[in-house]
Amino acid sequence: MELSLSTLALAGLGAAALTTAAAKTKTRLELSRAKHPSLVGHVRWSKRIAGLIPYYEFGDDRFFDCDDAPAGIAAQRRHAFYALADDYRARYARTIALKSEVKGSISDMQFTDAYRVPFPFSRLVRENLGASPFLEASTGVTLTDVDGNLYYDLAGSYGVNVFGYDFYKACLAEGASRVDLLGPVLGTYHPVVADNVARILDISGLDEVSFHMSGTEAVMQAVRLARYHTGRSHLVRFSGAYHGWWGDVQPGVGNPEPARSTYTLAEMSDATLNVLRRRRDIACVLVNPIQALHPNEGPPGDSALIDSSRRAAFDRAAYAEWLYKLREVCSARGIVLIFDEVFVGFRLANGGAQEYFGVRADMVTYGKTLGGGLPIGVLCGRRALMKRYRDDRPADVCFARGTFSANPYVMGAMNAFLRRLAMPECKALYKDLDATWNARAEALNARLAAAGIPVAVANMSTIWTVLYTQPSRYNWMFQYYLRKHGLALSWVGSGRFIFSLNYTAQDFAAVADQFIAAAEAMQRDGWWWRDANGSPVNIKRQVLREMWKLGVMKRKAA
Ligand SMILES: Cc1ncc(COP(=O)(O)O)c(C=O)c1O
Repeated sequence: MELSLSTLALAGLGAAALTTAAAKTKTRLELSRAKHPSLVGHVRWSKRIAGLIPYYEFGDDRFFDCDDAPAGIAAQRRHAFYALADDYRARYARTIALKSEVKGSISDMQFTDAYRVPFPFSRLVRENLGASPFLEASTGVTLTDVDGNLYYDLAGSYGVNVFGYDFYKACLAEGASRVDLLGPVLGTYHPVVADNVARILDISGLDEVSFHMSGTEAVMQAVRLARYHTGRSHLVRFSGAYHGWWGDVQPGVGNPEPARSTYTLAEMSDATLNVLRRRRDIACVLVNPIQALHPNEGPPGDSALIDSSRRAAFDRAAYAEWLYKLREVCSARGIVLIFDEVFVGFRLANGGAQEYFGVRADMVTYGKTLGGGLPIGVLCGRRALMKRYRDDRPADVCFARGTFSANPYVMGAMNAFLRRLAMPECKALYKDLDATWNARAEALNARLAAAGIPVAVANMSTIWTVLYTQPSRYNWMFQYYLRKHGLALSWVGSGRFIFSLNYTAQDFAAVADQFIAAAEAMQRDGWWWRDANGSPVNIKRQVLREMWKLGVMKRKAA
């Protein structure tokens, strides 16, 4: 009898263990189903694979025909490349001299220079087509470099430049004059802060604000508070989304440490909603609305442009519906929904992405443009989430500081920015904004198609990306033609153009002309020659073969 009782008990325990194991397996499976199938969606794999990719480079012998182009095309490209290099040397003489003076001492410059184009091409490009990091002046929608070359600004200062540089110069001057009496006193507040807070709360529709020195820090604080108040460990970010360079929001490539408390899930996915519905360890979900232009893709830099597979298409209604569903699940599950508007805030609409998509978040981070030209990160949130201590447990606090937070000069420039933002002239800039920029993109696409150029643009309002419509290994060369034709890009090249709202029809017409001229020159020079069998898949295979061959050669040499 005793034996059969203990056998029963054991059997019961075994069954319970099996049920628990089955439940665990199910939740694990749900989690893996909610990952985006691409490498961007599998951060650990992407990091492992990144670690296996060997360095190799094309010398002059292979640089121009790595796509097996005929000798005539390769010769045409070689001639064009060195002619462009001569042109750059003449055009950017002071820039090149200044750059060689400091490059060895500025780590960031070395990094961005190395990663403007796919790495096998990088050395020859760096040696011949150095980009210009030294500018001397800005006005209207143009920039002037130290050699006196004038450019239309498509770089947009990482998104800070929403209203045009003269606007920010005025904010800086006005802001400084308001706070000059106090000067650089930190740890207290200039009275202008009160007006800033009132205006930011009005825009965000939230209860409290904290000031930080960068967007990265605002995001850090949002996640820390979400963890503190929910008592849960994990944050959810979506594949490819950038939220600054803090480790927890940058798992995978770029971060030497694994981010153990981060789930990277697919955006616009029912499987993700399912995970949010079931798991109990999720503190918050971070949304970067720029991803609406290319859901589940990483930031579109030209260094990853090894073929023509870059895709982008913005569907405002579909993204709004996704945000609405997210909102519902987060509310039901007590998960903190954080909109990271550091980039898109004030660019899409006067009231930011919340207004633009018609969905409210529990916390919103702002940055970039809100500083009126100075460094800033701002977190807004519901009162219960922003509180950094517990009334009933005084030693259990959620700490946050920052020496330069609420710096009087930043607060002054921010105040000038916010006051201008509320003015009718500024509000008018948002009227028909999308229609205007969509029409500009459409018109440019029509011209490109009519000219038979294998390039198209996709846009989310004033944020644009260049797409390549036929397979090619040389699309990244386009950035160098654009620059020669007077268009200033950021270091990610043709992947992201950021227009300021003060671009007039005339300004844009000039940009479009220069864009077309650059594309025609690139086409004439043979870079878009195409093998009849060429496809993005074949190009990827070719790249893999190159790596494999190199690996074998290296092993043999060893
Ligand atoms: C959406 C988003 N979040 C956070 C950040 C980080 O901001 P910062 O560079 O000011 O640290 C960025 C920067 O580009 C961003 O685009």
